[in-house]
Amino acid sequence: MPQHLVGNEALVRVQQRVREHSPARGAYSELYTRAAAAFDGISVCYPGEPEQIVMTTYDYLGLVGDPAVNERAKKAIDVHGVGGHGTAVASASLRLHRELERRLAEFVGHEDAVTFPSGYQTNSTVIPVLAGRGDWVLSDELNHASIIDGCRLAQSRGAHVQRYRHNDVTHLRELLAQAPADRTTLVVSDSVFSADGDLMPLPDIIEACREHGALLYVDEAHGLGVLGRGGRGIHEHFGLTPDPTTLIMSPLSKAVASTGGFVAAPRSLTELLRIAAPGCVFSAALPATAIAAATAALDVIESDEGIRRRDLLRRNIAHFIDRAGAAGLLSAPAQEHHSGVVPVFIGDDQRALRIAANCRDHGVMVVPFVFPAAASGKARLRVNVTARHTPEIVDLAIDVIAAACHDTP
Ligand SMILES: Cc1ncc(COP(=O)(O)O)c(C=O)c1O
Repeated sequence: MPQHLVGNEALVRVQQRVREHSPARGAYSELYTRAAAAFDGISVCYPGEPEQIVMTTYDYLGLVGDPAVNERAKKAIDVHGVGGHGTAVASASLRLHRELERRLAEFVGHEDAVTFPSGYQTNSTVIPVLAGRGDWVLSDELNHASIIDGCRLAQSRGAHVQRYRHNDVTHLRELLAQAPADRTTLVVSDSVFSADGDLMPLPDIIEACREHGALLYVDEAHGLGVLGRGGRGIHEHFGLTPDPTTLIMSPLSKAVASTGGFVAAPRSLTELLRIAAPGCVFSAALPATAIAAATAALDVIESDEGIRRRDLLRRNIAHFIDRAGAAGLLSAPAQEHHSGVVPVFIGDDQRALRIAANCRDHGVMVVPFVFPAAASGKARLRVNVTARHTPEIVDLAIDVIAAACHDTP
Protein backbone atom coordinates (compact mmCIF):
# COMPACT_ATOMS: atom_id res chain seq x y z
CA MET A 1 0.00 0.00 0.00
CA PRO A 2 1.37 3.53 -0.78
CA GLN A 3 2.89 5.10 2.34
CA HIS A 4 0.45 8.07 2.43
CA LEU A 5 -2.48 5.67 2.80
CA VAL A 6 -1.06 3.63 5.68
CA GLY A 7 -3.20 4.31 8.72
CA ASN A 8 -6.21 5.45 6.72
CA GLU A 9 -8.93 3.98 8.89
CA ALA A 10 -11.46 3.33 6.14
CA LEU A 11 -8.91 1.35 4.16
CA VAL A 12 -7.78 -0.55 7.23
CA ARG A 13 -11.40 -1.51 7.96
CA VAL A 14 -11.84 -2.71 4.37
CA GLN A 15 -8.69 -4.79 4.67
CA GLN A 16 -9.81 -6.34 7.95
CA ARG A 17 -13.26 -7.20 6.63
CA VAL A 18 -11.94 -8.68 3.41
CA ARG A 19 -9.32 -10.71 5.23
CA GLU A 20 -11.95 -12.09 7.58
CA HIS A 21 -14.36 -13.11 4.84
CA SER A 22 -12.13 -13.99 1.92
CA PRO A 23 -11.64 -17.63 0.96
CA ALA A 24 -8.00 -16.68 0.36
CA ARG A 25 -6.84 -15.85 3.85
CA GLY A 26 -3.94 -16.68 6.09
CA ALA A 27 -1.54 -19.21 4.62
CA TYR A 28 -4.04 -19.78 1.80
CA SER A 29 -3.62 -16.23 0.45
CA GLU A 30 -0.07 -16.98 -0.64
CA LEU A 31 -1.49 -19.49 -3.16
CA TYR A 32 -3.63 -16.75 -4.70
CA THR A 33 -1.02 -14.05 -4.95
CA ARG A 34 2.04 -15.82 -6.32
CA ALA A 35 2.72 -15.96 -10.06
CA ALA A 36 4.19 -18.88 -12.00
CA ALA A 37 7.35 -18.27 -13.99
CA ALA A 38 6.49 -21.06 -16.45
CA PHE A 39 3.57 -23.44 -17.01
CA ASP A 40 3.24 -25.91 -19.88
CA GLY A 41 0.11 -27.79 -18.75
CA ILE A 42 2.10 -30.68 -17.27
CA SER A 43 4.47 -28.91 -14.93
CA VAL A 44 4.73 -25.49 -13.34
CA CYS A 45 7.62 -23.43 -11.96
CA TYR A 46 7.19 -20.86 -9.21
CA PRO A 47 10.17 -18.69 -8.27
CA GLY A 48 12.03 -20.28 -5.36
CA GLU A 49 10.11 -23.57 -5.52
CA PRO A 50 11.00 -26.92 -7.13
CA GLU A 51 9.36 -27.67 -10.48
CA GLN A 52 5.98 -29.29 -9.80
CA ILE A 53 3.76 -31.68 -11.71
CA VAL A 54 0.41 -29.97 -12.09
CA MET A 55 -2.62 -31.83 -10.75
CA THR A 56 -4.73 -28.65 -10.77
CA THR A 57 -5.55 -27.73 -14.37
CA TYR A 58 -9.07 -27.70 -15.84
CA ASP A 59 -7.63 -28.40 -19.29
CA TYR A 60 -9.18 -31.88 -19.16
CA LEU A 61 -8.51 -32.76 -22.80
CA GLY A 62 -5.09 -31.11 -23.07
CA LEU A 63 -6.20 -28.54 -25.64
CA VAL A 64 -4.43 -25.51 -24.17
CA GLY A 65 -1.50 -24.88 -26.51
CA ASP A 66 -2.81 -27.33 -29.10
CA PRO A 67 -1.35 -26.26 -32.49
CA ALA A 68 -4.76 -26.28 -34.24
CA VAL A 69 -6.30 -24.12 -31.51
CA ASN A 70 -3.32 -21.73 -31.51
CA GLU A 71 -3.40 -21.45 -35.28
CA ARG A 72 -7.07 -20.46 -35.35
CA ALA A 73 -6.52 -17.86 -32.62
CA LYS A 74 -3.57 -16.39 -34.54
CA LYS A 75 -5.62 -16.11 -37.71
CA ALA A 76 -8.34 -14.31 -35.74
CA ILE A 77 -5.73 -11.81 -34.51
CA ASP A 78 -4.64 -11.13 -38.09
CA VAL A 79 -8.21 -10.39 -39.14
CA HIS A 80 -9.78 -8.83 -36.04
CA GLY A 81 -6.91 -7.72 -33.78
CA VAL A 82 -6.64 -8.55 -30.11
CA GLY A 83 -9.28 -6.41 -28.39
CA GLY A 84 -13.01 -6.70 -28.67
CA HIS A 85 -14.34 -3.14 -29.31
CA GLY A 86 -16.85 -3.29 -26.46
CA THR A 87 -20.25 -4.78 -25.83
CA ALA A 88 -22.25 -6.95 -28.20
CA VAL A 89 -24.64 -4.09 -28.89
CA ALA A 90 -21.68 -1.87 -29.83
CA SER A 91 -21.05 -4.18 -32.80
CA ALA A 92 -18.51 -6.36 -30.97
CA SER A 93 -20.61 -9.45 -31.64
CA LEU A 94 -19.31 -10.82 -34.94
CA ARG A 95 -20.43 -13.56 -37.26
CA LEU A 96 -17.71 -15.62 -35.53
CA HIS A 97 -19.65 -15.27 -32.25
CA ARG A 98 -22.92 -16.33 -33.86
CA GLU A 99 -21.25 -19.28 -35.54
CA LEU A 100 -19.79 -20.50 -32.23
CA GLU A 101 -23.14 -19.96 -30.48
CA ARG A 102 -24.90 -22.00 -33.17
CA ARG A 103 -22.30 -24.77 -32.84
CA LEU A 104 -22.48 -24.82 -29.02
CA ALA A 105 -26.28 -24.94 -29.10
CA GLU A 106 -26.25 -27.82 -31.57
CA PHE A 107 -23.57 -29.63 -29.58
CA VAL A 108 -25.53 -29.62 -26.32
CA GLY A 109 -28.91 -30.10 -28.03
CA HIS A 110 -30.60 -26.68 -27.90
CA GLU A 111 -31.97 -24.22 -30.42
CA ASP A 112 -29.62 -21.33 -29.64
CA ALA A 113 -26.89 -20.14 -27.29
CA VAL A 114 -25.56 -16.80 -26.01
CA THR A 115 -21.91 -16.24 -25.10
CA PHE A 116 -20.69 -14.21 -22.13
CA PRO A 117 -17.28 -12.84 -21.12
CA SER A 118 -16.82 -15.59 -18.51
CA GLY A 119 -18.52 -18.52 -16.85
CA TYR A 120 -18.76 -16.47 -13.67
CA GLN A 121 -20.62 -13.68 -15.46
CA THR A 122 -22.90 -16.16 -17.13
CA ASN A 123 -24.15 -17.61 -13.85
CA SER A 124 -24.12 -14.42 -11.85
CA THR A 125 -26.10 -12.43 -14.42
CA VAL A 126 -28.37 -15.02 -16.08
CA ILE A 127 -29.94 -16.48 -12.93
CA PRO A 128 -31.33 -13.07 -11.84
CA VAL A 129 -32.87 -12.62 -15.29
CA LEU A 130 -34.56 -16.01 -15.15
CA ALA A 131 -35.93 -15.49 -11.62
CA GLY A 132 -37.26 -12.16 -10.39
CA ARG A 133 -39.80 -10.82 -7.91
CA GLY A 134 -41.93 -13.58 -6.38
CA ASP A 135 -40.14 -16.38 -8.25
CA TRP A 136 -38.34 -19.24 -6.49
CA VAL A 137 -34.75 -20.44 -6.99
CA LEU A 138 -33.78 -23.81 -5.52
CA SER A 139 -30.02 -24.31 -5.56
CA ASP A 140 -27.88 -27.30 -4.52
CA GLU A 141 -25.93 -26.34 -1.39
CA LEU A 142 -22.62 -27.26 -3.05
CA ASN A 143 -23.11 -25.23 -6.23
CA HIS A 144 -20.27 -23.08 -7.53
CA ALA A 145 -19.66 -19.57 -6.13
CA SER A 146 -20.82 -17.96 -9.40
CA ILE A 147 -24.22 -19.63 -8.96
CA ILE A 148 -24.37 -18.50 -5.35
CA ASP A 149 -23.75 -14.91 -6.47
CA GLY A 150 -26.39 -15.24 -9.20
CA CYS A 151 -28.84 -16.44 -6.55
CA ARG A 152 -27.94 -13.49 -4.30
CA LEU A 153 -28.63 -11.05 -7.12
CA ALA A 154 -31.94 -12.79 -7.87
CA GLN A 155 -32.77 -12.50 -4.17
CA SER A 156 -31.97 -8.79 -4.16
CA ARG A 157 -34.50 -8.47 -6.98
CA GLY A 158 -37.21 -10.13 -4.94
CA ALA A 159 -36.80 -13.83 -5.74
CA HIS A 160 -37.09 -16.38 -2.95
CA VAL A 161 -33.87 -18.43 -2.86
CA GLN A 162 -33.43 -21.65 -0.96
CA ARG A 163 -30.66 -24.22 -0.90
CA TYR A 164 -31.46 -27.92 -0.98
CA ARG A 165 -29.23 -30.53 0.60
CA HIS A 166 -26.52 -31.74 -1.73
CA ASN A 167 -27.96 -34.06 -4.41
CA ASP A 168 -30.93 -34.78 -2.10
CA VAL A 169 -33.87 -35.15 -4.49
CA THR A 170 -36.29 -35.87 -1.62
CA HIS A 171 -35.44 -32.52 -0.06
CA LEU A 172 -35.69 -30.83 -3.48
CA ARG A 173 -39.15 -32.36 -3.97
CA GLU A 174 -40.26 -31.07 -0.56
CA LEU A 175 -39.25 -27.55 -1.53
CA LEU A 176 -40.77 -27.84 -5.01
CA ALA A 177 -44.07 -28.81 -3.40
CA GLN A 178 -44.01 -25.55 -1.40
CA ALA A 179 -43.23 -23.28 -4.37
CA PRO A 180 -46.14 -21.15 -5.64
CA ALA A 181 -47.65 -22.75 -8.74
CA ASP A 182 -48.26 -19.38 -10.45
CA ARG A 183 -44.60 -18.24 -10.29
CA THR A 184 -41.42 -19.46 -12.00
CA THR A 185 -39.40 -21.98 -10.04
CA LEU A 186 -35.80 -22.42 -11.17
CA VAL A 187 -33.76 -25.40 -9.98
CA VAL A 188 -29.99 -24.87 -10.32
CA SER A 189 -27.24 -27.46 -10.12
CA ASP A 190 -23.66 -28.11 -11.18
CA SER A 191 -23.60 -31.20 -13.41
CA VAL A 192 -20.22 -32.20 -11.94
CA PHE A 193 -19.62 -30.64 -8.54
CA SER A 194 -16.50 -28.57 -8.71
CA ALA A 195 -15.05 -29.53 -5.33
CA ASP A 196 -15.76 -33.27 -5.22
CA GLY A 197 -16.29 -34.28 -8.84
CA ASP A 198 -19.54 -36.15 -8.10
CA LEU A 199 -22.44 -35.93 -10.57
CA MET A 200 -25.91 -34.48 -10.05
CA PRO A 201 -28.65 -37.15 -10.24
CA LEU A 202 -29.95 -35.66 -13.49
CA PRO A 203 -32.76 -38.11 -14.37
CA ASP A 204 -34.36 -37.80 -10.90
CA ILE A 205 -34.02 -34.03 -10.85
CA ILE A 206 -35.56 -33.74 -14.34
CA GLU A 207 -38.48 -35.87 -13.20
CA ALA A 208 -39.01 -33.75 -10.06
CA CYS A 209 -38.85 -30.52 -12.13
CA ARG A 210 -41.33 -31.90 -14.67
CA GLU A 211 -43.80 -32.91 -11.98
CA HIS A 212 -43.72 -29.39 -10.53
CA GLY A 213 -43.41 -27.43 -13.78
CA ALA A 214 -39.99 -26.04 -12.77
CA LEU A 215 -37.19 -24.86 -15.05
CA LEU A 216 -33.82 -26.57 -14.63
CA TYR A 217 -30.48 -24.77 -15.08
CA VAL A 218 -27.42 -27.03 -15.32
CA ASP A 219 -23.82 -25.79 -15.03
CA GLU A 220 -21.68 -28.07 -17.21
CA ALA A 221 -18.31 -26.50 -16.29
CA HIS A 222 -16.66 -29.85 -15.54
CA GLY A 223 -18.94 -32.00 -17.69
CA LEU A 224 -18.80 -30.42 -21.15
CA GLY A 225 -16.22 -32.14 -23.34
CA VAL A 226 -15.69 -34.74 -20.61
CA LEU A 227 -18.90 -36.67 -19.95
CA GLY A 228 -20.48 -38.91 -22.57
CA ARG A 229 -18.72 -40.62 -25.48
CA GLY A 230 -19.16 -37.50 -27.62
CA GLY A 231 -18.33 -35.14 -24.74
CA ARG A 232 -21.79 -33.56 -24.85
CA GLY A 233 -22.06 -33.57 -21.09
CA ILE A 234 -24.29 -35.00 -18.41
CA HIS A 235 -27.33 -35.56 -20.64
CA GLU A 236 -25.29 -37.79 -22.94
CA HIS A 237 -23.80 -39.53 -19.89
CA PHE A 238 -27.30 -40.53 -18.79
CA GLY A 239 -28.50 -41.27 -22.37
CA LEU A 240 -30.83 -38.24 -22.41
CA THR A 241 -31.34 -35.19 -24.62
CA PRO A 242 -32.21 -31.85 -23.01
CA ASP A 243 -35.78 -30.69 -23.31
CA PRO A 244 -36.54 -26.96 -23.74
CA THR A 245 -37.08 -26.46 -20.01
CA THR A 246 -33.55 -27.59 -19.12
CA LEU A 247 -31.13 -24.75 -19.79
CA ILE A 248 -27.47 -25.57 -20.10
CA MET A 249 -24.57 -23.28 -19.30
CA SER A 250 -20.87 -23.86 -19.35
CA PRO A 251 -17.69 -21.85 -19.07
CA LEU A 252 -15.44 -22.08 -22.13
CA SER A 253 -12.40 -22.14 -19.87
CA LYS A 254 -12.17 -25.82 -18.98
CA ALA A 255 -12.24 -28.66 -21.58
CA VAL A 256 -13.08 -26.01 -24.23
CA ALA A 257 -9.65 -24.51 -23.78
CA SER A 258 -10.43 -20.81 -24.17
CA THR A 259 -12.24 -18.29 -22.01
CA GLY A 260 -15.85 -17.13 -21.70
CA GLY A 261 -19.16 -18.78 -20.97
CA PHE A 262 -22.47 -19.56 -22.65
CA VAL A 263 -26.07 -20.50 -22.00
CA ALA A 264 -27.95 -22.74 -24.42
CA ALA A 265 -31.75 -22.53 -24.43
CA PRO A 266 -34.76 -22.08 -26.72
CA ARG A 267 -34.30 -19.02 -28.98
CA SER A 268 -37.17 -17.18 -27.29
CA LEU A 269 -35.06 -17.16 -24.12
CA THR A 270 -31.61 -16.52 -25.61
CA GLU A 271 -33.00 -13.45 -27.36
CA LEU A 272 -34.21 -12.14 -24.02
CA LEU A 273 -30.86 -12.85 -22.38
CA ARG A 274 -29.05 -10.88 -25.11
CA ILE A 275 -30.99 -7.77 -24.17
CA ALA A 276 -31.48 -8.34 -20.44
CA ALA A 277 -28.50 -10.18 -18.90
CA PRO A 278 -26.09 -7.54 -17.57
CA GLY A 279 -23.09 -9.77 -18.37
CA CYS A 280 -24.10 -9.51 -22.02
CA VAL A 281 -25.39 -5.95 -22.12
CA PHE A 282 -22.89 -4.12 -19.91
CA SER A 283 -19.68 -6.08 -20.41
CA ALA A 284 -17.38 -6.32 -23.43
CA ALA A 285 -18.10 -9.24 -25.74
CA LEU A 286 -15.51 -12.00 -25.96
CA PRO A 287 -12.68 -11.03 -28.31
CA ALA A 288 -12.45 -12.86 -31.63
CA THR A 289 -9.32 -14.70 -30.46
CA ALA A 290 -11.24 -16.38 -27.63
CA ILE A 291 -14.13 -17.23 -29.94
CA ALA A 292 -11.78 -18.66 -32.57
CA ALA A 293 -9.90 -20.73 -29.99
CA ALA A 294 -13.17 -22.07 -28.53
CA THR A 295 -14.43 -22.96 -32.01
CA ALA A 296 -11.21 -24.81 -32.83
CA ALA A 297 -11.34 -26.63 -29.47
CA LEU A 298 -14.94 -27.62 -30.18
CA ASP A 299 -13.83 -29.03 -33.55
CA VAL A 300 -11.43 -31.34 -31.70
CA ILE A 301 -13.95 -32.22 -28.97
CA GLU A 302 -16.47 -33.31 -31.63
CA SER A 303 -13.92 -35.31 -33.67
CA ASP A 304 -12.42 -38.81 -33.33
CA GLU A 305 -9.45 -37.09 -31.71
CA GLY A 306 -11.86 -35.84 -29.04
CA ILE A 307 -13.01 -39.41 -28.42
CA ARG A 308 -9.39 -40.54 -28.21
CA ARG A 309 -8.58 -37.83 -25.68
CA ARG A 310 -11.65 -38.68 -23.59
CA ASP A 311 -10.57 -42.33 -23.60
CA LEU A 312 -7.14 -41.27 -22.31
CA LEU A 313 -8.79 -39.07 -19.70
CA ARG A 314 -11.01 -41.94 -18.52
CA ARG A 315 -8.02 -44.28 -18.38
CA ASN A 316 -6.16 -41.75 -16.21
CA ILE A 317 -9.17 -41.12 -13.96
CA ALA A 318 -9.68 -44.88 -13.44
CA HIS A 319 -5.97 -45.32 -12.74
CA PHE A 320 -5.96 -42.45 -10.26
CA ILE A 321 -9.02 -43.81 -8.45
CA ASP A 322 -7.55 -47.35 -8.31
CA ARG A 323 -4.21 -46.17 -6.98
CA ALA A 324 -5.69 -43.59 -4.60
CA GLY A 325 -8.12 -46.22 -3.26
CA ALA A 326 -5.27 -48.69 -2.71
CA ALA A 327 -3.24 -45.97 -0.95
CA GLY A 328 -6.16 -45.26 1.39
CA LEU A 329 -6.62 -41.72 0.07
CA LEU A 330 -10.32 -41.93 -0.81
CA SER A 331 -13.04 -41.55 1.79
CA ALA A 332 -15.10 -44.30 0.15
CA PRO A 333 -13.68 -47.53 -1.31
CA ALA A 334 -12.41 -47.15 -4.89
CA GLN A 335 -15.49 -46.75 -7.03
CA GLU A 336 -16.56 -45.72 -10.50
CA HIS A 337 -15.75 -42.05 -10.93
CA HIS A 338 -16.66 -40.20 -14.10
CA SER A 339 -15.17 -36.74 -13.81
CA GLY A 340 -11.66 -35.32 -13.85
CA VAL A 341 -12.15 -33.81 -10.36
CA VAL A 342 -11.07 -36.13 -7.55
CA PRO A 343 -11.12 -35.11 -3.87
CA VAL A 344 -8.72 -36.45 -1.28
CA PHE A 345 -10.41 -35.83 2.07
CA ILE A 346 -8.17 -34.53 4.84
CA GLY A 347 -10.45 -32.96 7.46
CA ASP A 348 -8.44 -30.36 9.36
CA ASP A 349 -7.76 -27.12 7.46
CA GLN A 350 -4.25 -26.50 8.75
CA ARG A 351 -3.24 -30.10 8.08
CA ALA A 352 -4.57 -29.83 4.50
CA LEU A 353 -2.44 -26.70 3.98
CA ARG A 354 0.61 -28.47 5.40
CA ILE A 355 0.03 -31.55 3.23
CA ALA A 356 -0.32 -29.40 0.09
CA ALA A 357 2.94 -27.63 1.01
CA ASN A 358 4.64 -31.00 1.55
CA CYS A 359 3.40 -32.16 -1.89
CA ARG A 360 4.75 -28.95 -3.41
CA ASP A 361 8.16 -29.52 -1.80
CA HIS A 362 8.17 -32.98 -3.37
CA GLY A 363 7.21 -31.78 -6.84
CA VAL A 364 3.42 -32.18 -7.02
CA MET A 365 0.95 -29.31 -7.11
CA VAL A 366 -2.51 -29.91 -5.63
CA VAL A 367 -5.05 -27.36 -4.38
CA PRO A 368 -5.98 -27.42 -0.69
CA PHE A 369 -9.70 -26.69 -0.25
CA VAL A 370 -10.15 -25.23 3.23
CA PHE A 371 -12.81 -23.16 5.00
CA PRO A 372 -14.71 -21.21 3.68
CA ALA A 373 -14.19 -22.87 0.27
CA ALA A 374 -14.99 -26.17 2.06
CA ALA A 375 -17.13 -26.62 5.18
CA SER A 376 -15.21 -26.21 8.42
CA GLY A 377 -13.32 -29.41 9.30
CA LYS A 378 -13.94 -30.92 5.86
CA ALA A 379 -10.80 -29.78 4.10
CA ARG A 380 -9.67 -31.75 1.09
CA LEU A 381 -7.03 -31.68 -1.58
CA ARG A 382 -8.60 -31.29 -4.96
CA VAL A 383 -6.90 -33.17 -7.76
CA ASN A 384 -7.65 -32.62 -11.44
CA VAL A 385 -6.79 -35.51 -13.75
CA THR A 386 -6.40 -34.75 -17.47
CA ALA A 387 -5.82 -36.53 -20.76
CA ARG A 388 -2.26 -35.20 -20.84
CA HIS A 389 -1.27 -37.05 -17.71
CA THR A 390 0.31 -40.46 -18.11
CA PRO A 391 -0.01 -43.49 -15.82
CA GLU A 392 3.55 -42.69 -14.64
CA ILE A 393 2.58 -39.13 -13.71
CA VAL A 394 -0.48 -40.41 -11.88
CA ASP A 395 1.68 -42.94 -9.98
CA LEU A 396 4.14 -40.25 -8.99
CA ALA A 397 1.36 -37.92 -7.84
CA ILE A 398 -0.26 -40.67 -5.73
CA ASP A 399 3.08 -41.63 -4.17
CA VAL A 400 3.82 -38.03 -3.21
CA ILE A 401 0.30 -37.32 -1.89
CA ALA A 402 0.23 -40.60 0.08
CA ALA A 403 3.66 -39.92 1.60
CA ALA A 404 2.65 -36.34 2.47
CA CYS A 405 -0.53 -37.57 4.15
CA HIS A 406 1.44 -40.21 6.06
CA ASP A 407 4.24 -37.87 7.15
CA THR A 408 2.23 -34.75 7.99
CA PRO A 409 0.80 -34.44 11.51
C1 LIG B 1 -18.93 -25.09 -11.75
C2 LIG B 1 -18.31 -23.81 -12.24
N1 LIG B 1 -19.12 -22.87 -12.78
C3 LIG B 1 -18.63 -21.69 -13.22
C4 LIG B 1 -17.28 -21.41 -13.14
C5 LIG B 1 -16.77 -20.07 -13.60
O1 LIG B 1 -16.17 -20.16 -14.86
P1 LIG B 1 -15.08 -19.11 -15.36
O2 LIG B 1 -13.80 -19.46 -14.66
O3 LIG B 1 -15.01 -19.29 -16.82
O4 LIG B 1 -15.56 -17.76 -14.98
C6 LIG B 1 -16.40 -22.37 -12.62
C7 LIG B 1 -14.95 -22.08 -12.55
O5 LIG B 1 -14.17 -22.73 -11.97
C8 LIG B 1 -16.93 -23.60 -12.16
O6 LIG B 1 -16.14 -24.54 -11.63
